[in-house]
Amino acid sequence: MSKRFYVTTAIDYVNGEPHLGHAYEKIIADVIARARRSLGQEAFYLTGLDEHGQKVQQAAVAEGKAPQAYCDELAVVWQACAAKLGLSIDDFVRTTQPRHKAVVAAMLRKLHSQGDLYKAPYRGWYSWKEETFLTEKDRRPDGTFDPAWGEVKELVEENWYFRMAKHQSWLIEHIEANPTFVQPDSRRNEVLGFLKSQTLEDLCISRPKARLSWGIPLPFDPDYVNYVWFDALTNYYSIPAALGDSEAAAPLEGFFDSTFHAPRSALRLWPADVHVIGKDIVKFHAVYWPIMLKAAGIPLPKQVLVHGWWQKDGQKMSKTTGNVVNPIEVIDEWGLDAFRFYVLRELDIGPDGNWTDAGFKARYQAELANGLGNLVNRSLSMLKRYRNGVVPPPHSELANDAGKVLADTRVALENSELQGALLNIWSLVTRANQYVDHTAPFKLAKDPAQAKRLDEVLYNLAETCRVLAVLLWPFLPSTATKIFTQLGLSGLPDKFAAAAWGGLPAGHKIGEPAPLFPRKDISTRISRIRFARQCY
Ligand code: MSP
Repeated sequence: MSKRFYVTTAIDYVNGEPHLGHAYEKIIADVIARARRSLGQEAFYLTGLDEHGQKVQQAAVAEGKAPQAYCDELAVVWQACAAKLGLSIDDFVRTTQPRHKAVVAAMLRKLHSQGDLYKAPYRGWYSWKEETFLTEKDRRPDGTFDPAWGEVKELVEENWYFRMAKHQSWLIEHIEANPTFVQPDSRRNEVLGFLKSQTLEDLCISRPKARLSWGIPLPFDPDYVNYVWFDALTNYYSIPAALGDSEAAAPLEGFFDSTFHAPRSALRLWPADVHVIGKDIVKFHAVYWPIMLKAAGIPLPKQVLVHGWWQKDGQKMSKTTGNVVNPIEVIDEWGLDAFRFYVLRELDIGPDGNWTDAGFKARYQAELANGLGNLVNRSLSMLKRYRNGVVPPPHSELANDAGKVLADTRVALENSELQGALLNIWSLVTRANQYVDHTAPFKLAKDPAQAKRLDEVLYNLAETCRVLAVLLWPFLPSTATKIFTQLGLSGLPDKFAAAAWGGLPAGHKIGEPAPLFPRKDISTRISRIRFARQCY
């Protein structure tokens, strides 16, 4: 089996609740995975949950539950959310799974045996909320720490450290030699700036069990558990190794214990092609993670793709202010594809975005209901009305427009430029809607002498709808499928190659047209949706 295109997301902290930011990231990765599959590559999409650490332990204790039981309950909520988002995931990792823990332990054993880890005392200011020691740089001018760090206390403890010094220069070289390793460029520059201006301090990779027991024990020192970030980052690699990617597991051969059982498999996933993450965790992914891998003799991932953060109404989303966008509620009210469309169309991968309900509704109305929805509905309704739903002989008046959009969309998808791809696809929606207005098939239908011209126009419109279904598949899989069904086509529009012009054969009978995006009174809720008559 050849190597699959392997895309991952950050694994979410199990003790939070899924919100717009988590959903956005998972949808980005889903579109990337679906696009690759559509383009003919095998792809593997991994997401999951980060379940160890102080916060989870504290939250479980607060609810009077054992941490594992607490995680098991919440994992159901997160997995349901992944299903609700229509994610085409191939696996769902939970860091409490034995398959993951066994690989983390093997990594630790190897690094320890090579002398990459050492034990030393440390005195410092510790943020309990963020589970991290703070440095003098974190102090405010008045000497206090920002309340965002939560309770900060001085702590002295012995811990295990990962030697970083020897890794700084090769990492700089690697990032410079591989411009796509960290994307977009603004994030790449940020990482390079950091690496060139500061000496990397050794990374503390343990927590004393006396303070935190909810973690993976260090295999060489039973008084400690592994730092949650070392554990969490390893998920990207542990799952391929555990699923039987033997090339992935090879560098750790001899360091697994008897709890590790990978099936014999021809699966090839590692190295990851894209790690999709948010801007707050770039340092972990673009600095610590490559260093961990390099030290363990494991090949590096090809790309860390960094998206920006969503705000709501210009403010940080926060439970206390009550301005959190709940993806489930939006999907229940507006439909999954409307949600997927909005987040991908509104925000390019990189900058920060701002969710407003008004902005969401405006795009829904203009681009989905009046744009794509109206095009498909009026094209198919006219074909039904004027030709009894039978496709006329092929004609290629819009073939060049569609061909250009197809070529540009392919390039955009290959570069994970998802907003760019959507803009491009919508240029075809707009072109076809204008074509209806210019050719006025409803007038042609009144003149028997224009029957051939009407055939041509109807073919171009129906075929454009078919092409759009294929192009839209990675973004709006359910809408794309509905368009195919309404066209009377069997199977899924999931092969990019099928977008080539001329796929609709003459004489083919289409199905029943129906509105794709119900028009809504912008001010009303879904209970009062109006299925407006589509206008020709
Ligand atoms: N558990 C760590 C990641 C470990 S990956 C080895 C973590 N979890 S998180 O739940 O806090 O965040 C998960 C992802 O959601 C991160 O990539 C983060 O950037 C993203 N987002 C969290 N809030 C966000 C927004 N408001 N907007 C966009 N993405 C945001 O970090």
